[in-house]
Amino acid sequence: MSSQDIPEENLPAEQAEEHRAVAVADEQNPFADPGLPPHEHRIQDTDERAAKRSERMVALLFTVSMLATIAFIVAYLVIPNDKSIFVFPIGHISAMNFTLGLTLGVALFCIGAGAVHWARTLMSDVEVADDRHAIAASPEVRAKVHEDFRQGAKESAFGRRKLIRTTMFGALALVPLSGVMLLGGLGPAPGTKLRHTLWAKGKRLVNMNTNQPLRPEDVMVGSLTFAKPDGLEETDEEFQNDIAKAALMIVRLQPDNIKDKRELDWSHEGIVAFSKICTHVGCPISLYEQQTHHVLCPCHQSTFDLSDGARVIFGPAGHALPQLRIGVDSEGYLQALGDFEEPVGPAFWERG
Ligand code: FES
Repeated sequence: MSSQDIPEENLPAEQAEEHRAVAVADEQNPFADPGLPPHEHRIQDTDERAAKRSERMVALLFTVSMLATIAFIVAYLVIPNDKSIFVFPIGHISAMNFTLGLTLGVALFCIGAGAVHWARTLMSDVEVADDRHAIAASPEVRAKVHEDFRQGAKESAFGRRKLIRTTMFGALALVPLSGVMLLGGLGPAPGTKLRHTLWAKGKRLVNMNTNQPLRPEDVMVGSLTFAKPDGLEETDEEFQNDIAKAALMIVRLQPDNIKDKRELDWSHEGIVAFSKICTHVGCPISLYEQQTHHVLCPCHQSTFDLSDGARVIFGPAGHALPQLRIGVDSEGYLQALGDFEEPVGPAFWERG
């Protein structure tokens, strides 16, 4: 005879509870609720020495987290930026990056592991089953939740286990310092650097592919030419920074097709020069549609009309591409007549 067949009042208390939890399958509920399995008590619930051991383990994990955060800060301050170390099987990597990653990882892991160990071994271990209920809770239910929350806080022994509480607060208070330290890596504010490029009056436009100064006759109708300032070489230490601001895009339009008066004044025989850097988030623009005079940024499809002051006609870019005023020098080469008159690239807080 199974326990289901014995009258509930004749069952031992534990089995009677289990018996009540089991719903018998019927037509409306074709799957019987198997009920909860018998509850197994943890050793920490019955042995205070085991509970103390768990408490020390949790405290140890939080303490290791604190030490790892301190190691992170020390590493950030003392390890030189250019120092590399060999790490198997990756090879040579930055000592600073490796140490920061390792210490921050240990600090966060130990907080998580400490919290999980605490919950699994020391917090209340009562199993509860509840029916699904409507999403909007009644005031009584909300009151019960608050009461349960208070009860949970009490049962977690948060107030009683001072060692855990102190070390946990220590670990949680220290770990954000890692993020604060990293703010130092943002470096000094750019000041006016974003407002100036290498372009200046008299700088020749040099073809980025051939490395030769450009003459007007080198720029054909329908072609898209990329240019850099004369004197800027790939071997220069600051090449990447400088080209990221100075990269230029040159096309030749029929002067009659140029709708924007200022654009026409700043062009030379229909040759117009615009910044190649998209004003959305700074991708290099690379696609030119010669029939419509549109250029397209491949990153998020911002489209600019080069015959109309490079204004935005589609996409997320916030403003037109800056134009560079150009002319020809005494030897017949295309030259800039000054720097861009507005910052190139994406909008930024100082743009004004
Ligand atoms: S960077 Fe060009 S559209 Fe986003």
